Amino acid sequence: MTNITFTMIKPDAVSNGYIGPILAKINEAGFRIVAMKYFHLEPEKAAEFYAVHKERPFYNDLVKYMSSGPIVAAILEKENAVEDFRTLIGATDPSKAAPGTIRNLFAKSIDANAIHGSDSDANAGIEGSFFFSQMERF
Ligand code: CMP
Repeated sequence: MTNITFTMIKPDAVSNGYIGPILAKINEAGFRIVAMKYFHLEPEKAAEFYAVHKERPFYNDLVKYMSSGPIVAAILEKENAVEDFRTLIGATDPSKAAPGTIRNLFAKSIDANAIHGSDSDANAGIEGSFFFSQMERF
């Protein structure tokens, strides 16, 4: 088990003004920010990042959506990071997310679901390295 996970605050949450409240929840839950950047994810980069979902019916909409406005990407550190972060953000579909979770509080639909969290230690490593070099980690 590693102690890092990767997250993105998605375009809906950014445009709705939720960067601050979401970072506060992450902070209160005891995660340390290892790396962070605010930027526009180009469609080509989004397509590459989500290549694992290429055969899924929602792939094209997902790529379009994730490149529709700025996002915040970050690497977070905490003991049991992947599992604890997924508990903090709640179910992928916000209508099924437990009360008080980030998606329950800040997301409106399964497509625009406010935040991403890695689903395994292996993916946390791959996803973090997709966006951040070693030099950008603190
Ligand atoms: P996330 O897990 O961060 O990355 C893949 C995204 O695809 C997921 O969040 C959802 O926002 C989106 N998505 C849209 N439809 C579905 C679906 N049916 N199942 C899983 N993810 C979906």
